[in-house]
Amino acid sequence: MVRCTRCDLSLSRTKVVPGAGSQQAKLMLVGEAPGANEDRAGVPFVGASGKLLNAMLEKIGIAREDVFIANVVRCRPPENRNPKPQEIRACAGWLSEQIRLIQPRLVAPLGRYALEHFIAGGKITRLQGQVQRIDYAGASLSLFPLFHPAAVLRAPDRRPQYEEHFGRLGALLKKAK
Ligand code: URA
Repeated sequence: MVRCTRCDLSLSRTKVVPGAGSQQAKLMLVGEAPGANEDRAGVPFVGASGKLLNAMLEKIGIAREDVFIANVVRCRPPENRNPKPQEIRACAGWLSEQIRLIQPRLVAPLGRYALEHFIAGGKITRLQGQVQRIDYAGASLSLFPLFHPAAVLRAPDRRPQYEEHFGRLGALLKKAK
């Protein structure tokens, strides 16, 4: 059981959602924050957004157990409001430590809050679907920004491009040792 009290979200959460998946993952997906389902389960992306992610991973032949899924904020914001800057800051050390330990070949930030953790001021609409190499915690890191699945569920016309971007991601992972 995780008992983090680094920010006030610890007062309203049910469970911390520390992240889940393979410690040997070549791909790490980074979401925004847990919703109601994740708060109950303690596991990321188990609701509608998670179903879409699962479908995208299946399409490119990657088992969910083989990736690692994390969030920039590990406790549910009340009423699913956007995470506040101080909550994101308080939680940032957990994510950088996970990346340091797992050393994924590619990190896919999902949506603008996740992208912001890696590229301050980065625009998801502009950077999605393209590799971005950045310096991160003293090392080089390859990012592949993608829309948050909730944004695709809200605007289904984005789905064909989302599938194409996942296809590109799958091809990059095949090449990565
Ligand atoms: N949305 C997120 O960003 N993360 C989750 O874990 C679930 C939904």
